[in-house]
This record gives sequence, C-alpha cells and structure tokens, in this order.
Amino acid sequence: MTVDEVRERAGSLEQEFKDALARVENTAGLEEVRVRFIARKGVVPALFDELRSIPPEGKKEAGRILNGLRMRLQSAFDERKEMLAAGRARDSNIDLTLPGRTLTPGHLHPITQMLREVRRIFVSLGFSVADGPEVEDDYHNFEALNFPPDHPARDMQDTFFIRDTVLLRTHTSPVQIRVMETTEPPIRVIMPGRVYRNEAISARSYCLFHQVEGLAVDRGITFAELKGTLGTFARQLYGNDLRYRFRASFFPFTEPSAEMDISCFLCGGKGCRMCKGTGWLEILGCGMVDPNVFTAVGYDPEEYTGYAFGMGIERMAILLYGIEDIRMYFENDLRLLEQF
Ligand code: DAH
Repeated sequence: MTVDEVRERAGSLEQEFKDALARVENTAGLEEVRVRFIARKGVVPALFDELRSIPPEGKKEAGRILNGLRMRLQSAFDERKEMLAAGRARDSNIDLTLPGRTLTPGHLHPITQMLREVRRIFVSLGFSVADGPEVEDDYHNFEALNFPPDHPARDMQDTFFIRDTVLLRTHTSPVQIRVMETTEPPIRVIMPGRVYRNEAISARSYCLFHQVEGLAVDRGITFAELKGTLGTFARQLYGNDLRYRFRASFFPFTEPSAEMDISCFLCGGKGCRMCKGTGWLEILGCGMVDPNVFTAVGYDPEEYTGYAFGMGIERMAILLYGIEDIRMYFENDLRLLEQF
C-alpha cells in the first residue's frame, strides 16, 4: 500500500463511518457501528495492520493519517453516544430532554355527565333516543298534550313566547308528540333536551334547564311496567338499597298520573334538611298516556296503551352531588367544574 492509498482509504472509511453513525437510533445500532469500525476486529485496526506493508519513508505519514482518523472516529462516536444517552435521536433540533408541555384535559360538565348516565341506563333497558326542536309551537307543547286552552302554564309568566303560537318549549313532552306523529308502536324512547321557563331566577329555578322525557307505547302496556322500569332506573342511578314510592298526581297528558319519590340518601329516610324532614325526595313525574294524546297523534286508544315520564336533570344532579343552587350549573365557574 502507498501513502496515497492509505489517505484515500481513510477518507472513504471516514465517510462510511459518518453515514453509518447518522443512521444510528439506539444503543444496539451504536454497538454495531463500534464493532464494525473501531473495535479490535473492526476495519480501522485492520487498516493499521496495513502499515507494515508501507515503505519505510511513508510509514510516518501513513501513521499520522491513521491516528488522526482513529481520533476523529472515536470522538464522533463518543459524541453520538452522549447524544443518544441524552435522548436526542438524530441530529435534529428536537430535544427530547426538554420538559414536555403539560396537557390539561377538560372536564365534562356535571349536567352532561348526569344526562349521559341517565341515557346509558335507559339504553341498557332497551330504549332508543330521540330529539326535538327547542323552538316549538303551541300545538306540540300544549294542545296535543291535552292542555286545555286556559291552562295556567300557557300564561306569559311561565312561557317564553316568540310569536303568538311559537314558543321556547317549556318541557320535553312535545317530543313525545313528534315521535308518535312519525312512528308506529311499539315505541320505547327517551328524549333528552333543554327546556325554558320564564321564571324569576333564584337558587331553586332558572330560565333554562334540562329534562329527560320517556315514552313507551305498545299493546298491553300496564302501570306495572312503568313502575318496574322506573324502579330499575332509580336503583341503577342511586344504588340498590334505594326505596321508592309512587304518589298520585296530575298532568294533563297522563291518566292516571304519579310522582315518583326515592328514599332520601342523605338521611336514609329518617328525615333531614335535604328531604325537608319527610325522608323522601321527588325525582320525576309519570303516568299512563292519556287517551286524548293518542287520539291527537292518530293512535287508536282502544288498541294501544303506554306510559310516559319526565325528569329534571338539574334536580337529579342536585340530589346526587348535593349542589343545591341551580344557578351554579350555569355559571361555568372552574372551581365547581374542576371537581367533576
Ligand atoms: N312535562 C312535565 C314537566 O315538565 C314532566 C312530566 C310529567 C313528563 C309526567 C311526563 C309525564 O312525560 O308523564 O313538569
């Protein structure tokens, strides 16, 4: 070998080494490069062995070239090793050792959580989910639901009217009518949504809140199915040892009508501030669909029976979480939201 050949060989080896090193992504790859180039049986020591075949006058120069090569390769190798150890793969400007950006995941609003939970339970009981408009007409919100023309709920005090017969729905019950107008029985459906009432805002009432409406229509549906379904629902939501009862009540669109109470989970039924000493908490209104409602949607009340129910989601949340001022659910105060 001549000195020129050594120089040339050293040059191409250095390039090869740099290319190989640049492709290294982990310690295993680094070790391969070390074994191939600079370890005892690698190509660089092999090149040193060639020094023997170099004529004496060139030996010194060839030795200088090879020593220089070995030093540069070693320091490039060490630098790469250090970079890898520091977590910096490739010579990119991404520094994996820098602290990451903290992710601050959001929270589902407690009302959203409660809505989802109620929906989950009814879907597991075989109900489907339907939707209706928040801007309703008098016919669906009142008339088809058997509200007489002079019913006090039609009063300006309670309803936000947009025009004479157009209003913001005051409950989710009009969705029952819309579902029955467009579907034939059997029906088992829940209808969640926002409702609006023109009431003085206080800790107990707000101009906007959420309800979940329910409707089941088929041949031969009885009050027993209503009780069984709503009892199962309440126990899934509030716990298995819950007791419940149905009290006679009145709604224009159901006959008979009832309100469902659950045993107060704060005091276990002994009587406390939450249940106002009664041991019971009212959670929903329900009843058997009034024949007049079936007639309004074109169902034969002799052929079909059904039950309906409606619950206020804020009320359920108030009971479950013990946050008693309804306005807090609409303020979006992070101090509240972050607790959910
Ligand atoms: N719509 C009633 C309300 O807003 C709640 C309700 C009661 C719905 C009884 C029903 C029902 O479907 O059967 O107060």
